[in-house]
Amino acid sequence: MSPVDPDLPAEGSPASSPASPASARTSRPGPDGATRRPLVSGNWKMHHDHIEALHTVRDLGLRLRAEDVAKVDVSVHPPFTDIRTVQTLVEGESIPVSLGAQHCNDHDRGAYTGEVSPQMLARLGVRYVIVGHSERRRHFAMTDEAVAATLRAVLRHEMTPILCVGESESERAGGRTEARLSAQLDSALRGLEGAQVARVVVAYEPLWAIGTGNAATAVDAEDACLFVRQTVAGLAGSDAAASLRVQYGGSVNPQNAADLMAEPDVDGLLVGGASLNAAEFLEIVRASRPVTSARRHRPGGQPVRTPAADP
Ligand code: 13P
Repeated sequence: MSPVDPDLPAEGSPASSPASPASARTSRPGPDGATRRPLVSGNWKMHHDHIEALHTVRDLGLRLRAEDVAKVDVSVHPPFTDIRTVQTLVEGESIPVSLGAQHCNDHDRGAYTGEVSPQMLARLGVRYVIVGHSERRRHFAMTDEAVAATLRAVLRHEMTPILCVGESESERAGGRTEARLSAQLDSALRGLEGAQVARVVVAYEPLWAIGTGNAATAVDAEDACLFVRQTVAGLAGSDAAASLRVQYGGSVNPQNAADLMAEPDVDGLLVGGASLNAAEFLEIVRASRPVTSARRHRPGGQPVRTPAADP
């Protein structure tokens, strides 16, 4: 069996039981009543060689139950040297996770020493490619132009880009978060057709939250993810914005995942450190399962925006 298709349309039946009232969330409404399936992605960064990858994914496969992935898409993004190993394992043992990559070049082939092409990834069954992670932008001088070209290359090969956007600590302190997010979204997405944008996943990853243990609050994550969606609506239309999945990333862990996922515009999580351990990652996946709830409340008792209808 091949991995569960993460791009399958959302299912219509309600999930069995909420994990807890505080974590209760519903599937998110898209255009014409369609819903956005949560996507939980593990970005391993430069961790785990191919042997460690084998153990981690096998461990994850042994722990995952069908109900864990019935309404949640899961992807793992190992280093390039692990991808073939993970692909063989996932396909051979029918482990219901999708294969992801952390980056690629925007050319299909050529004299680009040290690079990996989107075509090569597509041939390996990679479904999701992280594009423009802040560590690529910061440590490898990836420009907005390169991000836009890479995003288009990933789409051209029928894979799903996970476009990373986010503000730095000083931009946040200076009240420039929205300006930063809209500039990054504009340069990456402007000119694409609505149907292409609808296939994109945007990961809101504030730089100050990455690897610091200092995650955004659920309310701040929601505000930023809603702003992403509104900005995308302006760029590509409201249908594309309603279909597009927006993840939050930055110090996600099993303790904060459910609260983040309870927010209506947080459609998934991009997990770094906590994705390296199968048990921890699985807890995050489980905390992300949609549940049916007539109304959802913030822990403090304040009602949050409620989608028009549960699936
Ligand atoms: P952490 O979860 O380790 O903060 O990393 C977040 C991240 O950068 C995922 O892409």
